[in-house]
Amino acid sequence: MHERPKTAGAEAALSLEEKAALLCGQGTWETTAIPRSGIRSITLTDGPHGVRRLAPGTETFSFDASEPATCFPTGAALGSSWDVDLLDSVGAALGRESRAAGVSVLLGPGINIKRSPLCGRNFEYLSEDPVVSGHLAAALVRGVQSTGVGASLKHFAANNQETDRMRVSAQVDERTLREIYLAGFEYVITQAAPWTVMAAYNRINGIPAAHNRWLLSDVLRQEWGFEGLVVSDWGAVSDPEAAVAAGLDLEMPTTHGASAARLVAAVQAGRLEESVLDRAVARLLALLDRTACTEASAPVDLEAHHALARRAAAESAVLLRNEDNLLPLDSRAKASVAVIGEFARSPRFQGAGSSRVRPTRVDTALDALKEAAGQDMTLSFAAGFSLTGQPDQELLAEAVAAAAAAETAIVFLGLPEGQESEGFDRTHLRLPDVQLQLLEEIAQVNSNIVAVLANGGVVETATWQHRAKAVLEGWLHGQAGGGAVADLLFGRVNPSGRLAETIPLRLQDTPSHLNFPGSEGTVLYGERLYVGYRYYDSVDMPVSFPFGHGLSYTTFRYSDLRAEVLAPSRDGAAVRLRLTLANTGPVTGKEVVQVYVGDAQASVDRPLRELKAFQKIELAPGQSTTVMFDLSVRDLSFYSPQHGDWVLESGDFHISVGSSSRDLRLAATVQVSAPAVVRPLSMESSVGEWLAHPEAGPILRDVLNNGEGSAMAADPEIFRMIESLPMERLVAMSAGRINTEALNRLAEHTAVSPS
Ligand code: GLC
Repeated sequence: MHERPKTAGAEAALSLEEKAALLCGQGTWETTAIPRSGIRSITLTDGPHGVRRLAPGTETFSFDASEPATCFPTGAALGSSWDVDLLDSVGAALGRESRAAGVSVLLGPGINIKRSPLCGRNFEYLSEDPVVSGHLAAALVRGVQSTGVGASLKHFAANNQETDRMRVSAQVDERTLREIYLAGFEYVITQAAPWTVMAAYNRINGIPAAHNRWLLSDVLRQEWGFEGLVVSDWGAVSDPEAAVAAGLDLEMPTTHGASAARLVAAVQAGRLEESVLDRAVARLLALLDRTACTEASAPVDLEAHHALARRAAAESAVLLRNEDNLLPLDSRAKASVAVIGEFARSPRFQGAGSSRVRPTRVDTALDALKEAAGQDMTLSFAAGFSLTGQPDQELLAEAVAAAAAAETAIVFLGLPEGQESEGFDRTHLRLPDVQLQLLEEIAQVNSNIVAVLANGGVVETATWQHRAKAVLEGWLHGQAGGGAVADLLFGRVNPSGRLAETIPLRLQDTPSHLNFPGSEGTVLYGERLYVGYRYYDSVDMPVSFPFGHGLSYTTFRYSDLRAEVLAPSRDGAAVRLRLTLANTGPVTGKEVVQVYVGDAQASVDRPLRELKAFQKIELAPGQSTTVMFDLSVRDLSFYSPQHGDWVLESGDFHISVGSSSRDLRLAATVQVSAPAVVRPLSMESSVGEWLAHPEAGPILRDVLNNGEGSAMAADPEIFRMIESLPMERLVAMSAGRINTEALNRLAEHTAVSPS
């Protein structure tokens, strides 16, 4: 139990200058202390998959000189686990290490949607889908905060590229924002209550996220009920007065008093109410109370955390291909295996930038394979290529010779350091040429190739995957990933990862391709809702490996889907699903049962299918279980900017349940009835919309048929034409013969006031 000294309410005794100082960092990572008031400083630091605690006195922005901490798999890997319980455990471990390092807020998880596979920070993020992002991030937040350490959900919002990230304006329509780019944040905030949210660098429709009242106050606080603290991304605030007024509470890092002085001046000039500062100070003090801990932090069991990192890496890896069931390899067999690729010896296990962790130790796949191999297995190693990307004929020849002399070749490929990072985006999806050449030449001398990938952002596989009977996507698998690879290849762990991001055939096929990364300060989200599989499935485009895909060493059978429509209450369950899942294969395995919904009769365009629920379930061979899902009214709804709310329309909904967005095993169509959706009317509404209104329609029809408008209404052809006419135009064109009295009567009748 964390004793919490009460500083809440102390803001009343603070001077204006002290209040302003509290809203601005005192250092790179520390908040301001006011000792006379008992207000302590706390430390906030990165990062989503490991604690980056700089050693005292280190250069503040160093990315290398931090204290050792467990480097867990990065977001792209954890997102591929689809395992809520696992992520809660990882979050708790991160919290324990944060607490032990004197860190009060851990700056993560990052949940920006993977709008393009080129985004340099996709390695840090979870998915192309807001349901996967939201559910997994909520688990991470719960885990971190279970230890008395705050999480910081980031980067709020629409920070989906690195190019020009500090200035670019994401031009996004509201429905797309709500359904795609905000939905994950909304889920985490309403289900896991992160103690802080980090406002992003970029603009949204022209307004910086850190100064965006609609985003930080109207949506985040009024609509979603967020009660925590909003912290800026580091250096995201250009106008502290506008930021605090919009709902930002803490600007980081320190501006050495400059921002505080501007806040004081704004209050003294009457441009900013002091009560706005009081509000932000109260949120900071509440955070201090939440993170206060009188008991000494428990010692951290780094061995246990390393083991957890290994389990997480194994749960996150995705078996993309396994022709002839080449995997798992029998470690006890009398066999020769060539381990090829510098990554087996020098693993790439995390990304670059602010999330970089100094690991407590690093397992290499080569050592782990040697350790796991039985005495009858001979393992050879050849680097195959240089991480510099420069061709090296000697390394190539050596690797080809090793492959030729072995029955199986395990080839480690991936993106070298420097090919993806915070701060810049990629320009293509290819693996380095030296690696592709290596694979090509090995394939000439060995037909039993296992390719193991280490990459944060998706790489294209279409041009080379046929060369490898098996392909295991390991992502950036953290410090224990080498051991996890050995566990998976030798079958000690059955792969259970699923793609949380589609692997497209080509970059040109990606929905954002023509609008990424934008230019001249703006990036248009022209693909709207159609991100990732929402696009590929809606246009029936072939992909290399679909969203939700992942193979196992066992097989599963889906049967007996039953869908029951419940009487939908506003926030209750609308459809209850139950099905039977059975393990029909030889070994225990975990299946991710995925539920997709398609609205067949919407009045607006909607993606063909959208993931609305999932469960990861472990079954022994021959075991079966009943799986149940409740889909809520919200799960079936779309966001309507006209209504300013989520809308459920009556009609048929196609429910698909399966093992990926393209491997749908069961289907049902349910008919959902919901109250008629009455579009709010205004003078901009068309005549047709007015006529369709259940109350206004009959009255207007009367006005048109019997009043001066009857001549028009009598001629069906003319009538069809005027249906699309905005009402204000009809009134203007009727030269007063359609008097606005009738419309005012309508307005009263339908509680609509003509603008
Ligand atoms: C960085 C990142 C953010 C990080 C912060 C502190 O620029 O955008 O994710 O937490 O600054 O390092």
